[in-house]
Amino acid sequence: MKFNFTIIISIFIAVSLVVLGFALVQVHQERQRLNIELEQRANLLGEALHESISGQLAQENYQKISQLVAKFNQKQRILGLAVYNVKDSLVGISPGLEIYMPFAQIPLKQAMGVDSCFGQQLKAGTKNFYLHIRPIHEEGPLVGAAVLFQDTDYIQKRLGDIWRANFIRLLVLALAVALVTTLVIQWSIFIPMNRMVEWMKNLREQKPSTEAVMPPQDFFSPLSREVSHMAESILEAREAAEQEARLRAMGESVWTPERLKEEMRTLLDDKQLVVVSNREPYMHNRKGKSIEWIMPASGMVTAIEPILKACGGTWIASGTGDADRDVVDEDDKVRVPPDDPRYNLKRLWLSKEEEEGFYYGFSNEGLWPLCHIAHTRPIFRKEDWQYYQQVNQKFADAVLDEIEGLEEPLILIQDYHFALLPQMLKSKRPDARVAIFWHIPWPNSESFGICPWQRELLYGMQGADLIGFHTQFHCNNFLDTMARAVESQINWDNFTVRVGGHTTLVKPFPISIAFTLLDMERVPEHQASKEDLFKEHGIKAEFMGVGVDRLDYTKGLIERFLAVENFLERNPEYQGKFTFVELGAPSRTHIKRYSDLVAEVEKEVERINWRFKGKDWKPILFLKKHHSHQEIAPYYQAADLCMVTSLHDGMNLVAKEFIASRSNGDGVLILSRFTGAVREMRDALLINPYDIERTAGAIRYALEMPADERKQRMGNMRQHLLKNNIFLWAARLIRELSAVRV
Ligand code: G6P
Repeated sequence: MKFNFTIIISIFIAVSLVVLGFALVQVHQERQRLNIELEQRANLLGEALHESISGQLAQENYQKISQLVAKFNQKQRILGLAVYNVKDSLVGISPGLEIYMPFAQIPLKQAMGVDSCFGQQLKAGTKNFYLHIRPIHEEGPLVGAAVLFQDTDYIQKRLGDIWRANFIRLLVLALAVALVTTLVIQWSIFIPMNRMVEWMKNLREQKPSTEAVMPPQDFFSPLSREVSHMAESILEAREAAEQEARLRAMGESVWTPERLKEEMRTLLDDKQLVVVSNREPYMHNRKGKSIEWIMPASGMVTAIEPILKACGGTWIASGTGDADRDVVDEDDKVRVPPDDPRYNLKRLWLSKEEEEGFYYGFSNEGLWPLCHIAHTRPIFRKEDWQYYQQVNQKFADAVLDEIEGLEEPLILIQDYHFALLPQMLKSKRPDARVAIFWHIPWPNSESFGICPWQRELLYGMQGADLIGFHTQFHCNNFLDTMARAVESQINWDNFTVRVGGHTTLVKPFPISIAFTLLDMERVPEHQASKEDLFKEHGIKAEFMGVGVDRLDYTKGLIERFLAVENFLERNPEYQGKFTFVELGAPSRTHIKRYSDLVAEVEKEVERINWRFKGKDWKPILFLKKHHSHQEIAPYYQAADLCMVTSLHDGMNLVAKEFIASRSNGDGVLILSRFTGAVREMRDALLINPYDIERTAGAIRYALEMPADERKQRMGNMRQHLLKNNIFLWAARLIRELSAVRV
């Protein structure tokens, strides 16, 4: 109330000063105008008098003058007229002028003396008047003077009116301003403030219905956003503490971000963590006049990002968003996640030629098909190889810059884009602990041997202290390739390879996702139904299958759709009832094989849909665009089954994300035998994607599986995921790396 009162009084004083200022100016201007008008009128009257009495005065016809003067009595703001002859004798006077006459004596003498007009505003008691004296001539000589008295009370009255009007205006204005201010303060400050206070109180008292995000408060939106972030952090901390307590009680060894952070502190004594990858975790893109950010579709990003969020550090990657340059500082760094900054993202800029040769060429037309046995022939071009070396060196320079002055930094290199980087770094900084994790499969030595630069790649990788793959099988393939291609000592007992005095440990670390006890226990507040999701696309169906992929030839998309076709063909009772939703993110479309694939997939979807589709149903809903995690989640949660049909895949985190999303403990995963995930997700329905009939059979089995079995299988997989999450992955890898002697 006091606040309200202070604001109103302040506004009132400000308004009063403004109104006063305007009133003063108005009064001043009006006074000037009226005075000028008065003088002009006096002059005009004087001139008229001069005409009519000059002759009479000259002839001393005072009777006529008396008659004329008597007519001037109290007319048109004129109080009266007095006429003097040249000898200063009064020869005519209007009645009632006596009280004013003393004021005229001296000015009259002066005006006659100097023979010029005189005018002045005067006051007789309470009466205001204007005295005008005009010497009268008749053909030259002075014959007398006319003294005119004009009433000027009207001027005071007029000015008084102006003051009064302004005072009333001030009152009305002040009242209106006070009223509006009170209402605005009430609506935009007190009511939202009370709501905020209430919300905070509920949050503090842990009232169950309170959401972590403060309801929007128009005027206070920036504040409420910040408070929401703070509340989220507090809630997370509270939940984490509760979780820790539960974990201790359970005696389970489940890893959490906090535990990983603690482990890092103990193992590394707060040494800097630097992650290097080609793909950045956040891309900033222009949308109209604003800048938006997305997380690219990449299993590598899904896995690594939670580690940096938990432990901090620096992530070095190529900047590929069209607004990436607009948000970085002078070191090309930006704090991310953009909505809750926890670590630095340093962006390197590749030229068009570097992107073409290093990324599209050598990495994705050469190494990618080389490592995936998916029957797309690798292409190795000399120019691409040169750009591969050049860009690896560019990243090496950036990392060396970043770790300059840091003792024994920890460097985690990601993937096949940077096979040469470990050696480049170790040769300059032998004290750095360097690991490279290969997110894709490693083929057998014969297959790998077709790469013309296999030895250079192997030497480059072997510079690392630790090389990680998803499976022991890939480790074995790698060691075998080393043994055949390079002069090296392989120790098959402890899985190390020694080249030129440097030993590298080669171990499997099956990668995972951020899935904690909190996630396991979390019940989504609102879960979209299949019906709603289908409705958005004009479809009605009883059962939903889902697939989430980058549009890549390794993902077995055509095989998956053929299996859906085969399933509908063999089980016509599901026609009109089962729709498979494919959330496909276009990827690397600059490469012909990838753009051809998109066209092939679309054609196949079109063919199958045309074959079966009904009025408001179709077998395959192909949603071709980049989907955010938030957009994908409802489909994961609503679907009856998820299909992962990779022809070859290092791990495949979609399988794990689907399992993590199934908070109701239900749903079936159909999983290709050729993924890394298959080694862990033994309760999925395992398929060979090339075997269309059996995959179709798995779809039917998934849809008809008894609820108990579904829950049993899903429960097992969720338990496994909980105990083998990304935090355990990072802890194991960092433990191994920190044990290396450098
Ligand atoms: C795979 C690779 C990642 C890569 C991702 C997306 O998961 O292992 O390193 O980031 O595909 O591919 P892109 O070429 O878009 O980065």
